[in-house]
Amino acid sequence: MAEIGQDIARAKSILTKGGLVAIPTETVYGLAGNALNDQAVTSIFEAKNRPSFDPLIVHVASLESAAEYVEFIPENAIKLANTFWPGPLTILLKKKSIISDLVTSGLDTVAIRVPAQELTRSLLTVLDFPLAAPSANPFGYISPTKAEHVNAQLGDRLDYILDGGDCEVGLESTIVSFEHEVPKVMRLGGLSVEEIEQVIGPVQVANHSSSTPAAPGMLKSHYAPRKSIVLKSKFDQISEDKISEIGALLFDQFDEVIPKENQFLLSESGDLKEAASRLFLGLRTLDQHDKIKTIVTDFVPNIGLGRAINDRIKRATAKS
Ligand code: TXA
Ligand code: MG
Repeated sequence: MAEIGQDIARAKSILTKGGLVAIPTETVYGLAGNALNDQAVTSIFEAKNRPSFDPLIVHVASLESAAEYVEFIPENAIKLANTFWPGPLTILLKKKSIISDLVTSGLDTVAIRVPAQELTRSLLTVLDFPLAAPSANPFGYISPTKAEHVNAQLGDRLDYILDGGDCEVGLESTIVSFEHEVPKVMRLGGLSVEEIEQVIGPVQVANHSSSTPAAPGMLKSHYAPRKSIVLKSKFDQISEDKISEIGALLFDQFDEVIPKENQFLLSESGDLKEAASRLFLGLRTLDQHDKIKTIVTDFVPNIGLGRAINDRIKRATAKS
């Protein structure tokens, strides 16, 4: 067997003992533990302060490995997996009993994905168990796209952070369910609906506009920064002496009134892929900016990854 790096060896040793390791993925960093070890799974929920009704995604090295944990893989799921794995796609499939109810919050389906990030792929291939991993942020807060984000918020609750640099995609995986005849996108994410439809034809997209989500965890007010964040269209202009307290998270053009140093552009060239990769960084940066009290934001073009970006903006600006 090829020699593995020291960092991967360390992660493997900790995970094998039931410890928690933050892992880089191409979407966001994950807070990983052995998915077959109930004590490890319990400690993931505790570290994140995550309610036990919100199930975890199980990460595996390959489609073959996924097959060990599910009863059946429908044709369309195989097509998607063959096309987009490793990558930002999560599929919901009937679980085998080896996956405990703790992981799935009592549901009979398990969310499975094969991540693309190189270090985590290597790690998964040297483990003899899959990794349960939610995004490595405290429950309800902005997902981390750099190792330092994880360290700042969960560092003391983790045994190790496997540093893989910046997450390339920057939005969580797209979740697809095959429960009904027409496949359904349960969470918009780093793989666009258009790309999915090119492979399996038309799909439905779940509507999570209510605060009683159809799928657990799809809560309306998610990804929220600590500061108040409002849509530009709903924002009442304020007096000039308060303007230095306003920040802006915008797509490709600066606001003319708000001080430039308070603004974060997602992509100056208007590229949705770049915008997706910088969304959580932008939210975080403005949330931590000393002078800013209120963040103003706006939707991006609603195509491709723009739909997933707009979904996150909607949730961040939703009043709980
Ligand atoms: O990109 C990602 O998916 C990242 C990286 C780390 O893989 N993970 C991630 O996990 O975003 P998390 O826990 O933050 O979001 C997982 C979502 C939750 O909204 C959860 O409710 C949903 O997946 N989910 C998990 N299992 C499910 C199931 N069996 N049925 C329906 N929804 C499920
Ligand atoms: Mg999350």
